[in-house]
Amino acid sequence: MKIEQVENYQEMSKYACDAIIDKVNSLQNPVLGLATGSTPEGVYNYLREENRNNRVTFRDTCTFNLDEYVGLAGDNPNSYRYYMNDRLFNHIDIPKQQTFIPNGKATDLSKECREYEQLLEDNQEIDLQILGLGLNGHIGFNEPGTSFKTRTHVVDLALSTREANARFFDSIEEVPNQAITMGIETIMNSKQILLLVSGERKAKALDQLLHGEVSEEFPASILKTHDNVKIIADKAALSKV
Ligand code: GLP
Repeated sequence: MKIEQVENYQEMSKYACDAIIDKVNSLQNPVLGLATGSTPEGVYNYLREENRNNRVTFRDTCTFNLDEYVGLAGDNPNSYRYYMNDRLFNHIDIPKQQTFIPNGKATDLSKECREYEQLLEDNQEIDLQILGLGLNGHIGFNEPGTSFKTRTHVVDLALSTREANARFFDSIEEVPNQAITMGIETIMNSKQILLLVSGERKAKALDQLLHGEVSEEFPASILKTHDNVKIIADKAALSKV
């Protein structure tokens, strides 16, 4: 894992935006893996601006999101489909049918997971995956204890994750108990990964990632075994390292 230390959130966002643009501009049919949460919002703002300024086009890009809450439809403001449309897809020139997010309202969730994996395979896997880091080391919604061998699957969310994400909902009771997430093996299949970490809130988790051992108890630790991972972290996130 390489580490790029940046000053602050804006610099982290710009760095990731530039990396995405370089990737998209260098490939005929780029496949991006995208994340939600507060961490990548700045990246999406920069991408919108660069798309507006014609520095990049997403006409031939496909995107796959990491995860989606079970039970939330795409028009629910707390669903990740809504988040992605609102923060990025509605503002750039990507055709919507090239943007993939698991369907949290699927009646057969296992089938939905299998089909998502198949879609990824059909698209030759992800060229560049953007990741955020959960406070307990989760990536996507792969909670501590998840096997490193998992593919896209349904998970029960840890209470700490529901609490951390409750800020987006009116109350914690409204945060779904389950989600569909790409598995750890699915994420590790990406050709290149950028892990974005910002703020003091994440300092302990980042310290654990950098100094702890590779263990299923800390899902992000598997990234140490991938040969093309870069962590982009700001000073506050690195303050406990
Ligand atoms: C959430 C998402 C992850 C995200 C992480 C960090 O639960 N499922 O994909 O990367 O937790 O979120 P944030 O960026 O808001 O800190």
